[in-house]
Amino acid sequence: MTDSSRRPETMEEKDVIDLLLAQHAMIRDMFDDVEQAAPQERGPAFTRLVRMLAVHETAEEEIVHPYVRKVVDGGEAVVDDRLAEERQAKELLQRLEEAGPDAPDFLERLTLLRAAVTAHARSEERYEFVRLRAETGPAERRAMAAGVKAAEALAPTHPHPGVESATMNLLVGTPVAMVDRIRDVIRQAMR
Ligand SMILES: [Fe+2]
Ligand SMILES: [Fe+2]
Repeated sequence: MTDSSRRPETMEEKDVIDLLLAQHAMIRDMFDDVEQAAPQERGPAFTRLVRMLAVHETAEEEIVHPYVRKVVDGGEAVVDDRLAEERQAKELLQRLEEAGPDAPDFLERLTLLRAAVTAHARSEERYEFVRLRAETGPAERRAMAAGVKAAEALAPTHPHPGVESATMNLLVGTPVAMVDRIRDVIRQAMR
């Protein structure tokens, strides 16, 4: 994957499902980046991963899950299962965040988080996105994409000077604090 294709601000997809699938791929790459980072690079790479996870899961929780509950037959159960997986991943992330990238067991904990996030993404793709695509039209999915794009702009995937420092201030502190900020941005974009 080229660098430019990973930059959210250059992504062309307008369908919410395409956007979320692209984010799943970016999250995979970002786990690789953290795992392979030199010790002094691990902290910043981890911060980029945490931001993208917060952006991605918040967008799903604000936009996609509620819609699936409404339009998909049996959607309530599908979404409840996904939310349980997301909660589990958030707990692992919270503990990893608290321990910090210099903790001796950081990579072990990161492996656990990665397994949870990967399994969750696969379940979404298989049980949720397929149904959503089948039961919505392109216009509905384009409307949902606006909120995802607005959220994504808060999480640059690469350290490019200027751009990152401008957005960095918006997503600081704990993942919980980030989620509050992201939710505001999504709700404004969807109004
Ligand atoms: Fe999710
Ligand atoms: Fe997802």
